[in-house]
Amino acid sequence: MWPFRSLLPRLATVAVVGSGLVSGFQFPDCVNGPLSNNTVCDLKATPAGRAAALVKVMNISEKLVNLVDMSRGAQRIGLPPYAWWNEALHGVAASPGVSFDWSGNGSAFSYATSFPNTISMAAAFDDEMIYKIGEVISTEARAFINAGRSGLEFWTPNVNPYKDPRWGRGHETPGEDPVRIKGFTKALLAGLEGTGSIRKVIATCKHFAGYDLERWKGAVRHRFNAVISSQDLSEYYLPPFQQCARDSKVGSFMCSYNALNGTPACASTYLMDDILRKHWNWTEHNNFITSDCNAVQDFLPIQHNFTQTPAEAAAIALEAGTDTICEVPEWPPLSDIVGAYNQTLLSEATIDKALKRLYEGLIRAGYFDPASSSPYRSIGWSDVNTPEAQALAYKSAVDGLVLLKNDGTLPLKLQRKSLALIGFWANPGLQMLGGYSGIPPYLHSAVYAAQQLNMTYYAQPGPPARAEASANSSWIAPTLSAADRADVIVYFGGTDTTVASEDTDRESIAWPSAQLSLINRLATLGKPLIVVHLGDQVDDTPLLTNPNVSAIIWAGYPGQSGGAAVLDLIRGKVAPAGRLPVTQYPAKYVDQIPMTEMALRPKTNQPGRTYRWYSDAVLPFGYGLHYTNFTTALLPPIPPSPSLLSGCTTPHPDLCPFATVPLTVTNTGQVKSDYVALLFLSGTFGPAPYPIKTLVGYTRLRGIEPGKTAKGEIHLTAGSIARTDASGNLVLYPGVYRLALDVDGGSEVGFALEGGEQVLDWFPQPKTQPKTQPQAQQTGEEGGSEREGKGDELPNLEDWDKKSSEELRMVDVKVLK
Ligand SMILES: *[C@@H]1O[C@H](CO)[C@@H](O)[C@H](O)[C@H]1NC(C)=O
Ligand SMILES: *[C@@H]1O[C@H](CO)[C@@H](O)[C@H](O)[C@H]1NC(C)=O
Ligand SMILES: *[C@@H]1O[C@H](CO)[C@@H](O)[C@H](O)[C@H]1NC(C)=O
Ligand SMILES: *[C@@H]1O[C@H](CO)[C@@H](O)[C@H](O)[C@H]1NC(C)=O
Ligand SMILES: *[C@@H]1O[C@H](CO)[C@@H](O)[C@H](O)[C@H]1NC(C)=O
Ligand SMILES: *[C@@H]1O[C@H](CO)[C@@H](O)[C@H](O)[C@H]1NC(C)=O
Ligand SMILES: *[C@@H]1O[C@H](CO)[C@@H](O)[C@H](O)[C@H]1NC(C)=O
Ligand SMILES: *[C@@H]1O[C@H](CO)[C@@H](O)[C@H](O)[C@H]1NC(C)=O
Ligand SMILES: *[C@@H]1O[C@H](CO)[C@@H](O)[C@H](O)[C@H]1NC(C)=O
Ligand SMILES: *[C@@H]1O[C@H](CO)[C@@H](O)[C@H](O)[C@H]1NC(C)=O
Repeated sequence: MWPFRSLLPRLATVAVVGSGLVSGFQFPDCVNGPLSNNTVCDLKATPAGRAAALVKVMNISEKLVNLVDMSRGAQRIGLPPYAWWNEALHGVAASPGVSFDWSGNGSAFSYATSFPNTISMAAAFDDEMIYKIGEVISTEARAFINAGRSGLEFWTPNVNPYKDPRWGRGHETPGEDPVRIKGFTKALLAGLEGTGSIRKVIATCKHFAGYDLERWKGAVRHRFNAVISSQDLSEYYLPPFQQCARDSKVGSFMCSYNALNGTPACASTYLMDDILRKHWNWTEHNNFITSDCNAVQDFLPIQHNFTQTPAEAAAIALEAGTDTICEVPEWPPLSDIVGAYNQTLLSEATIDKALKRLYEGLIRAGYFDPASSSPYRSIGWSDVNTPEAQALAYKSAVDGLVLLKNDGTLPLKLQRKSLALIGFWANPGLQMLGGYSGIPPYLHSAVYAAQQLNMTYYAQPGPPARAEASANSSWIAPTLSAADRADVIVYFGGTDTTVASEDTDRESIAWPSAQLSLINRLATLGKPLIVVHLGDQVDDTPLLTNPNVSAIIWAGYPGQSGGAAVLDLIRGKVAPAGRLPVTQYPAKYVDQIPMTEMALRPKTNQPGRTYRWYSDAVLPFGYGLHYTNFTTALLPPIPPSPSLLSGCTTPHPDLCPFATVPLTVTNTGQVKSDYVALLFLSGTFGPAPYPIKTLVGYTRLRGIEPGKTAKGEIHLTAGSIARTDASGNLVLYPGVYRLALDVDGGSEVGFALEGGEQVLDWFPQPKTQPKTQPQAQQTGEEGGSEREGKGDELPNLEDWDKKSSEELRMVDVKVLK
């Protein structure tokens, strides 16, 4: 049986089957078709000029049916239909715009490489690897595109910080830390979009912004109003999006379901215009914004109650800067763009602006170019699932594994030992993929890997992830019997997407009770017991404190080669060096803070969030053990010049080089291993309260042999060490700074900054956002409407250093330990 059909996201399945609108992707015919003499097909014209020429020949009825994800095109002028909803979170994925061949017998386009899901990729802390993964995904995507099986843009990456352990979509993200997310995002986007004049594919940073709740105790993403201070917004929720827009110049954005401080994100001119398009200057490529699917219909009374009719909803969204509306046919009513126009709520100028942005986006991906002029049009099926892609999927799975406990049992000498492979993902391992998956070429589960190694093993599925413990549990007898026969027990459990996923948040972060009860039984058998936990973090305290649990490995969602990676780690063929990209919280945490609380800092009777503000972790952010020991040393930071920022010419002062921090790592044990160097900053500079510490940089040093020393360096910018004030401005403060290597702070250097404060970035301040009806005849001038009224003028960016009386100097640099 072909097991993969169940992988399709429920919604996407329905939409693929249900719509019937789009027969398949096709490039417009610029040679013989009606568009051939239109400037849109003229390679010598500017992308903006080409888009304008296309929109000029569309009549209003044609325009109105091309502002939704299932765009109908315009047959009269030779513009093909286009499905905007394509997914590729960790490999080309099933979605309305992407069609796999379902015959499932190895035929062309019946699969694509399935890398570890984002949280596991992030755990490797290796951005060069993320770049390579991005390249493979975009190459395979181009093969699907050229075969008419996908559109040119993909709704990935998901860069919302994973701040609450209950969030169902946390595993789609690179974790809880903005610096980690920014590094991951920069590398992935470079791999996906490429650096040439034609975008390899168009990536979409989502979900803008403040989105990290699905469905929790009556709070639902479709009507949740995230109340976020300017300080938290600027410091925590937005930096990944700033990376996307300002620094990586990504092709597109998605606005989110939730409201931000009273305004649905897809209606927010503050988010989309003041911050994204104006402050981050995200206009160079006429970039476009899509709504999340049905986010605009969520304006209606039944959800946000922000507008009364679908026509008003569509008008407000488009006038506010959304350019295309994703609809879910199964969640009626559909959006009413025709009504919005007909009722003069939506101007033709706004419509044209949106269409120009959308088609200029496609133009920049070569949509209207002849095959001969594009570097990507010759990519085909033979470029999918190459040996290199297979090796990278395996390698990234290995590198993302995190060793959380080891009493010396690992690495295991396996010669002639038999294994009990127990648990719901030991075999076949479909759960290893996680959310937004495609069809992998294969699934190398632990059982598969054991077979390849000719090992003696006894496999038992155990309880499903969600199961509750009960006296009559059918899985107990067979699992205990398998364990009885084996020399070593390996339990493959944790959470999967039945426990936490899109539309499903958790209420408990304890180990699911049936699994914990089984592990406790297995732990009494007097045999080595290794627990490999899939999915999100659960409170491991009962396993960490049980001396009979020999080792714990967190595997996240390790992708198509996950089982093989785990078995190779257990038997010492490879060594662990991944680190937790999130905090592992104690189970009681969920009773101490509501999921709806967006503040990061602790309050009276309420703990803070993330490692920066919460110190009572079971296992901290950045935690991860090795098969060997390392000693580390930090050397004094080297500033680029004595006067720090004055020689810097970047238009964004936060990107000015601040210092290079050299470090050395010596392997004092017996096993060759990678080492992830995490550099944390602490000190009492800037506004109180002060975070416990803040990640400012990281690097993965590879293949350090026993007895050898590796050198590395971490580059800091002015923004790395700045703090965010109450208004969200990014400021460099005088004070005493400490930099520590690794979670235990084994080595430290310190320095002081003397001089006056310097503002690096003035954060746009929110205006009051009255719920006005859109003014339909507003001119659609570039840069968005001003209908929410003018706020205080922002200080000119050129004044950024004027606040200081005296330029900051670095003094007192010393090695502390
Ligand atoms: C393009 O060609 C069509 C006939 O194929 C003609 O009717 C139309 O006027 C041409 N347009 C331009 C701008 O040359
Ligand atoms: C636009 O063109 C289509 C196709 O020729 C036609 O059916 C429609 O009536 C036109 N709409 C307008 C407003 O002219
Ligand atoms: C196998 O794949 C080929 C090519 O797609 C197809 O023609 C054939 O029907 C498939 N066979 C089965 C049994 O699915
Ligand atoms: C914004 O981007 C445009 C296009 O790249 C550029 O010409 C302009 O100088 C930028 N403006 C600012 C303030 O950086
Ligand atoms: C929506 O808001 C209006 C006031 O603007 C209120 O009268 C109405 O009851 C609300 N509807 C729902 C479903 O909450
Ligand atoms: C447009 O509005 C008129 C009334 O002003 C109405 O009769 C007509 O049905 C509307 N058309 C659409 C497509 O909504
Ligand atoms: C497993 O056994 C098969 C058949 O005896 C043999 O071909 C293969 O090389 C063995 N694999 C390993 C890893 O020992
Ligand atoms: C115990 O569970 C099994 C499998 O779920 C079921 O078939 C059986 O009837 C149950 N027995 C009792 C006594 O509840
Ligand atoms: C550990 O295992 C021994 C048997 O080897 C057993 O006596 C003891 O109760 C176990 N302890 C726990 C906490 O499971
Ligand atoms: C690391 O060093 C400690 C103390 O010397 C030692 O007990 C431990 O076994 C070493 N661990 C490894 C993995 O080499």
